[in-house]
Amino acid sequence: MTEAILLVGGKGTRLRPLTVNTPKPMVPAAGVPFLTHQLARAKAAGVDHVVLATSYLAEVFEPYFGDGSRLGLHLEYVTEDEPLGTGGAIRNVASRLRSGPEDPVLIFNGDILTGLDIRALVREHETTGADVSLHLSRVEDPRAYGLVPTDPTGRVQAFLEKPQTPEEIVTDQINAGAYVFRRSVIDTIPAGRAVSVERETFPELLAAGAHLQGMVDSTYWLDLGTPAAFVRGSADLVLGRAPSPAVPGRRGDRLVLPTAVVAPDAKLTGGTVVGAHARVAEGARVGGSTVLDGAVIEPGAVVTDSLIGKGARVGARARLTGVVVGDGAHVGADNELRDGVRVWCDATLPAASVRFSSDQ
Ligand code: GDD
Ligand code: MG
Repeated sequence: MTEAILLVGGKGTRLRPLTVNTPKPMVPAAGVPFLTHQLARAKAAGVDHVVLATSYLAEVFEPYFGDGSRLGLHLEYVTEDEPLGTGGAIRNVASRLRSGPEDPVLIFNGDILTGLDIRALVREHETTGADVSLHLSRVEDPRAYGLVPTDPTGRVQAFLEKPQTPEEIVTDQINAGAYVFRRSVIDTIPAGRAVSVERETFPELLAAGAHLQGMVDSTYWLDLGTPAAFVRGSADLVLGRAPSPAVPGRRGDRLVLPTAVVAPDAKLTGGTVVGAHARVAEGARVGGSTVLDGAVIEPGAVVTDSLIGKGARVGARARLTGVVVGDGAHVGADNELRDGVRVWCDATLPAASVRFSSDQ
């Protein structure tokens, strides 16, 4: 059995307003807090002990997941007084680890949806004798990530976090946010101050001659850090494109939680989720979207690739594409919102006040 650290203390700034009241890992994806999918996948790979490194809105994790027994895990929580960054967070939970100095410890960013074969990453770590092993993914535009060039044997040559200049873009391989650390390496991270594992720990380990091993694969991979990615990830879980043992229902075009009410002629497609006590009225069409608990989609509204927050309301005949509506907000009837518009929590948009199309 192995143990794991989950980094869940980030502010989730790019997901606002969804993360105003809820930390990113607790925003529901396919009907359950996103973190549930990561925990269930870790459990399925043989992990039994998980330490959650919390900071932003730390108090909401434990009431929901408790001691982890519901998921067959032993869960512990460690909260930072001040955010310690990714490396500082890892170091800060070290006293809770049970592994011996040579044992492998898994570490996951808390916002990654992936089909990574976790056991294969641990095997790679053990057969190569690496100090740290990293899951790498190939992406078209690597600028928002950590770039990780490797030699033909997979040994990491450099670590370039969020490259700023074209010359720094030396590879399309990026840090996919899952690591195996030799336990004793965790103990070398300085304690009691903020440390970035990406900007400080990895480059320093490389400079000191440590063996960092990369494992590239082409499995499903998505960082759910932006609204568009979050909605896509949730839909992919429902559609069965992204693997998770924790989706509460059958895979298919839609997931309607038991207490939701959907009118018989409403159309739900593309992996749409309708949360508990939410309502979708007559003639509404909702595609590739997440409608969180208690939200209401009024008659004839058309909602595509959007995220509708808890208790929010989308008025009759409104058309939303690629939009986030914050918790408790009200988009009045006949509005047309598109492409990255974010309606803040509890805001009210009067009826027919925004349009994109020309009036005929
Ligand atoms: N406990 C704690 N404390 N956790 C933190 C802190 C902190 O101070 N800061 C960030 N985290 C957590 C976040 O909650 C998230 O789960 C993870 O660390 C990564 O932070 P993000 O803010 O999501 O980073 P990113 O997406 O810009 O970049 C990271 O992920 C990329 C892959 O998605 C880096 O690791 C990149 O190198 C990587 O490519
Ligand atoms: Mg991220």
